[in-house]
Amino acid sequence: MINHPAEPFRIKMVEPIHLISREQREKAMQVAGYNLFSLKAQDVYIDLLTDSGTGAMSQHQWAAIMEGDESYAGASSYFHLQEAMQQIFGFEYFVPTHQGRAAENILCAIKIKPGNIIPSNMHFDTTDANIRARGGIPDNCVTSEAFDIHSSNPFKGNMDLEKLENVIKTAGAENIPFGCITITNNAGGGQPVSLQNIKETAALYHKYNIPFFIDCCRYAENSYFIKKREAGYEQKSLLEIANEIFSLADGAFMSAKKDAIVNIGGFLAVRDQDLFQDICNELILREGFITYGGLSGRDLEAMAVGLKEGLDENYLTYRIGQTAYLGQQLIEKGVPIIEPPGGHAIYVDAGSFLDHIPQPEFPGQAVAAALYLEGGIRAIEIGSVMFAHPDPYSGEMVYPKLELVRLALPRRVYTQSHLDYVVEIFTHLKDRRKDLRGYKLTYAPPLLRHFTARFTPLT
Ligand code: F0G
Repeated sequence: MINHPAEPFRIKMVEPIHLISREQREKAMQVAGYNLFSLKAQDVYIDLLTDSGTGAMSQHQWAAIMEGDESYAGASSYFHLQEAMQQIFGFEYFVPTHQGRAAENILCAIKIKPGNIIPSNMHFDTTDANIRARGGIPDNCVTSEAFDIHSSNPFKGNMDLEKLENVIKTAGAENIPFGCITITNNAGGGQPVSLQNIKETAALYHKYNIPFFIDCCRYAENSYFIKKREAGYEQKSLLEIANEIFSLADGAFMSAKKDAIVNIGGFLAVRDQDLFQDICNELILREGFITYGGLSGRDLEAMAVGLKEGLDENYLTYRIGQTAYLGQQLIEKGVPIIEPPGGHAIYVDAGSFLDHIPQPEFPGQAVAAALYLEGGIRAIEIGSVMFAHPDPYSGEMVYPKLELVRLALPRRVYTQSHLDYVVEIFTHLKDRRKDLRGYKLTYAPPLLRHFTARFTPLT
């Protein structure tokens, strides 16, 4: 039995939410083409679409916002952020970006030539798409245990080093301009990567002279898992663990909308001076000057404070405990999820929950749509809508190994009773799951199709 942890904060300001009627929800879904991204947020009761940019900022962050320096160049807010960046990540150079994908775009624009391979444990959607948009080919080398939803391996986000070395040998190191690892692994259950595995991944990339980049938007949650689960790290502070992680890499990119608990922001950090020069040129062309990178001074301030708050152990004990609570409740009600629960989200195994719906009919989409229709809950499909794609060589559709629905928990936003409501709605769905039907795509763009696709329900 896992208890919901008491929140290490009290609530000073509230935002009203409403549950509209079933009829109104049905109408809203029709208008949205059954795509949950196309709903009006005010028609959603509990919004678990994403943990990105949806967190509640603290009084310290709001206070810092009032001190934002909006100078075009050399703003003091930039130097506040620089100090936090130095303390946690320790890279020689960095630029702020407006969010994670802007950092990915800059790196991919500079580094990738058509046909290049970019390995990772698993790339998330925007990284995958930014690589493809430059003619590159993303390659996922996560341990096969990531796909065994019941495996209790504490580090299911780990890179399979043998797979990675095979990819490098087959592609040739000269065709791999950089390699990645994503912490935690968002495409595979929000599962952490061990420090040992990050070390070995770095060593392997470096053996072949491949620069190593960390996609680190949930690095603080990953650091917490290392402290709790990896031998030798029990006594280390989370800051020391983070320092060790980043000391192994040549660069990192981050969507600060996650573990830095801001509504907007990100960065790209590197050690190499020449690469930094190229990054600055690309940044100035597309995002803004080097000391603000598409953000306002107040955003930089909120990020500087949020980076430190996101790494606070009390906060993370509550945060990871809340996710574990939701996971445990769902398991007890017989809802299949990726175990153990991840950091920022619970991933329901829609493929087995709706095993009567085949992959081309999108079982994850069916669960996500049913959650909204049944209870006004918004979640996201992480399955064939998001990741099925034609093979670049044969043109045949390649389906992902798992059909998931992610219930992402915004930081410091929902309470135990909200989560109990989610569990209650799942219990109703479970009873009538055989009545649920799949969906057919009526529109899909070539990249990142889940954002704007439209569907029709199959009868
Ligand atoms: N990398 C990972 C691992 C992510 O989870 C995300 C965003 C990005 C990069 C891109 O960052 O949105 O700031 O441009 N993930 C969000 C999500 C959108 O819902 O998981 P961004």
